[in-house]
Amino acid sequence: MKFIKPCLFAFTVLLSISCTSQKEKSSLKDVYKNDFYIGTALDLNQINEKNKKEDSLIRKEFNAITAENIMKSMFTHPQKDKYDFTLSDKFVAYGEKNKMFIHGHTLIWHSQLAPWMQKIADSTEMKAFMKDHITTIVSKYKGRINSWDVVNEALNEDGTLRKSIFLKTLGEKYLVDAFKLAEKADSKVDLYYNDYNIEEPAKRAGAIALIKKIKAEGGKVDGVGIQGHWRLESPSLEEIEKSILEYSALGLKVAFTELDITVLPNPWDLKGADVNQNFEGSAKMNPYPQALPDSIQNKLAERYASIFKLFLKHKDKISRVTFWGVHDGQSWLNDWPIKGRTNYPLPFDRDLRHKKAYDSIKKLKETKK
Ligand code: G3I
Repeated sequence: MKFIKPCLFAFTVLLSISCTSQKEKSSLKDVYKNDFYIGTALDLNQINEKNKKEDSLIRKEFNAITAENIMKSMFTHPQKDKYDFTLSDKFVAYGEKNKMFIHGHTLIWHSQLAPWMQKIADSTEMKAFMKDHITTIVSKYKGRINSWDVVNEALNEDGTLRKSIFLKTLGEKYLVDAFKLAEKADSKVDLYYNDYNIEEPAKRAGAIALIKKIKAEGGKVDGVGIQGHWRLESPSLEEIEKSILEYSALGLKVAFTELDITVLPNPWDLKGADVNQNFEGSAKMNPYPQALPDSIQNKLAERYASIFKLFLKHKDKISRVTFWGVHDGQSWLNDWPIKGRTNYPLPFDRDLRHKKAYDSIKKLKETKK
């Protein structure tokens, strides 16, 4: 007995030391490794590994990457006869070096087009552009990029097709053509349709109809990317769950591709991510310029926890969950829909410290062990 007591004490101390160090060592990607990829979107400085602390955080916490901007057409294809892969090569090499899942964003999108593309006015020229653009880029990274957003944001909020430059010049056939060209360039890469608000009923119905049509006409669509630019109160978990079920019933992988949650007021009740909208600011519209109050910090943590609980429930249908940025300071939501605000939409703060939201997402897995 005399011997057992000190032994038990030593064992308990050792166990708690090992648990503590385990906890410190573990990361989002580790705790979710059997469920789905945990991704982030990288900006140029992050791709260039400018900040050592930030870089080690990225490598520790995430196992999937998307380029936040540099793979958009204005950067990769600045002139008709000129591609520039300097930045995208760095991005892909970064992912390979760190054994990450690499997602390509994006091939056909009406926004962030190079100026010369915006002048394309007829179907012959647009057809030639699409063929050259998709074939060149997808072939270049064949076998190195794991999935592509082939078409991005082709829908209006009511589920009808957006009158983009592609629809105007080619009609709706551009959609199936884009997927066919991508498959031809790399038959093994996963091909996604990516959009915001496609968890909302009308737009979801539009996305389902669109994907069915592409498939019926011979296009290969492997997955749907629900962007996930969400708010504290909406969309409801019910609509998110319905979306997971309905998209996966089409035989699609479901990815949450650009997740973030705004905590700032929005007088126009704007939803989603239409980058054309912008509004002038006021102090009332920027209520937390110094720090986020605990009450809102807690709300954000609860919201993230409930969303990830749902993701875990349907982990067999979900391929990847990617946050749109590494930390709050990087987020596009500091400048949209009002420029120069201080938003707090991600699990890491401006000083790269993890927030309650991070702990709440991780805790869901740690308590299950
Ligand atoms: O590169 C210029 C820089 O030279 C200049 O000094 C600075 C001044 O504002 O602007 C810089 O460009 C900005 C660029 O991001 C890089 O930071 C653009 O103004 C800005 O409009 C652009 O915003 C990006 C936005 O897409 C544009 O459409 C956001 O960073 C990016 O997060 C956002 O991402 C989109 C997804 O691709 C698709 N889904 C919606 C999502 C959020 O809008």
